[in-house]
Amino acid sequence: MTSSSAPEAPVTAAALARAPQPRGRFITFEGIDGAGKSSQIAAVVALLRASGVAVDQTREPGGTALGERLRELLLHAPMHLETEAMLMFAARREHLAARIEPALASGRWVVCDRFSDATFAYQVGGRGLDRAKFDALERWVHPGLQPDLTLVFDLDPAVAAARVASTGVDPDRFEREQRDFFVRVREAYLERARLAPQRICVIDADRAPERISVDIERIVRERFFS
Ligand code: TMP
Repeated sequence: MTSSSAPEAPVTAAALARAPQPRGRFITFEGIDGAGKSSQIAAVVALLRASGVAVDQTREPGGTALGERLRELLLHAPMHLETEAMLMFAARREHLAARIEPALASGRWVVCDRFSDATFAYQVGGRGLDRAKFDALERWVHPGLQPDLTLVFDLDPAVAAARVASTGVDPDRFEREQRDFFVRVREAYLERARLAPQRICVIDADRAPERISVDIERIVRERFFS
């Protein structure tokens, strides 16, 4: 006869090592070119590390050796709209398999500069890709996975274009697009945020970087540490 109060077997170090890790968190940054997300990404990564969190910082398109090669093509080689959308998702599939999913499964957090919201904004909103094709690719490549938090940097495309021009760096295929393209991209980001208000926070990016950092730190603390 077994007793319900029988002592449990002692927990060994080996058993602890085999115990499932809590899944890491996935945070993405989005916005039109020139919205100023890069320095804020570095600040969030530093904040998380200072809080004792193991974090991987990465970007899309890119994040793997193959993804970086695809990035070169995507940013510089002219191509059909659907080729562009599928290459974005091909790079993403590789990124998920090689880096994002293993990191999250082992408890590491992932901070990523752009993810599928960018494909929705740029290829669907900006270029007019059929939304059903986007939905099908998203369901195929990451069924059941969405970021835990997405920060969309929202900025007037005229202000963003002036910022891009002031860098003096040769513009890529996307940065060379006209103002009305970025108006559509911005609108698509805002629409996506309306569809997923729990996940996506819209940040007013037309402010001093220090003020933006304060907002982001508050959002991250409230979302994950309160
Ligand atoms: P980045 O300059 O922010 O690194 O992004 C590279 C460019 O790629 C940027 O102009 C946005 C574009 N892009 C898309 O058009 N679709 C996507 O799915 C991603 C991830 C980026």
